Amino acid sequence: MTAVPGVQLGRHEPPTHLIAHFSDPHLLGGGRRQFGVVDSTGHLVAALEQLERSGLRPDAIVFTGDLTDLGEEDAYVRLRDIVTPVVDRLGAQLVWCMGNHDERAPYARVLFGEDVRGDGSAGIAPQDRVYEVNGLRIVALDSSVPGYDHGELDREQLDWLREVLVAPAPHGTILALHHPPIPSPLDPLMEIIELDEQDAFAEVVRGTDVRAVLAGHLHFSTHSTFAGVPVSVASATCYTMALGLPDVTLGGYDGFQSVDTVHVYPDRLVHTSVPLGAAPVLNGLGRRRRLRRGDDAGGAAGHVLPEGLAVQARRGRHRRRPRRLGCVGGASERRRRRR
Ligand SMILES: [Fe+2]
Ligand SMILES: [Fe+2]
Repeated sequence: MTAVPGVQLGRHEPPTHLIAHFSDPHLLGGGRRQFGVVDSTGHLVAALEQLERSGLRPDAIVFTGDLTDLGEEDAYVRLRDIVTPVVDRLGAQLVWCMGNHDERAPYARVLFGEDVRGDGSAGIAPQDRVYEVNGLRIVALDSSVPGYDHGELDREQLDWLREVLVAPAPHGTILALHHPPIPSPLDPLMEIIELDEQDAFAEVVRGTDVRAVLAGHLHFSTHSTFAGVPVSVASATCYTMALGLPDVTLGGYDGFQSVDTVHVYPDRLVHTSVPLGAAPVLNGLGRRRRLRRGDDAGGAAGHVLPEGLAVQARRGRHRRRPRRLGCVGGASERRRRRR
């Protein structure tokens, strides 16, 4: 589940669950590039390779929508064939969500083997599903509105969700959907295609065992609350929004992609955006310093160090305190000058 299983370095016990939260891969049929430029297929493959290399062992991998760019059947086939082997090797539960760029018919047919006919999605029921992951309930909600880009959970969906949430799950519930029910102050234009009827949704969520809402759609990481519940939006694996640039409206970067980890603790969740891609690695930073002021090589109450770290800490304790980097004019420097 975690990179260092069974190790407790701080005051908190290890998490009970780990979720890898991906969003907005936007695959195109034939492996075509998005806008003719963005290699969304290659970016997704690289993201999954990075997850496997990390040593993390998620209990679930959640994709919060815009799985494909145009809803093409071949794009869903490619997505399934890329993601499923990784998920199988990791032994994780795979959770898909629909996005505004997806189409219900090929989504259901390819990813769930459900024989849904028709060339449009208007007559096909919303793709809402419930997953049980070692006592944690994950509910995938279909916030897509066929033919439109804004989001909505209709009355039937909310009635269904209310029924699902009647009985609490042992580790609580996480809701996953594409359209985040939060404002978007850094990119207000996205509010044109936000989730409608948020008050009715909040009324269903409030007072239940829902512990978090995971979402996508914005192509940048952001966090807020909804009905008293934390909301975490994962950025995209395809392209990301160019925020804060003057004279750029709805611009994007083919870079700065990330995937989120969601560590579930008994009393809280921790969301972390993990950058994707390569950069120079600086290894071993700070290894010559003691781990904590007053710590006696990991002997402080409640701090259990793995063997390697304990050795490192013990060595550090008996070593002279290293001079601060770039520090001149200190006591030793003044003594040297006097000589
Ligand atoms: Fe998207
Ligand atoms: Fe979207």
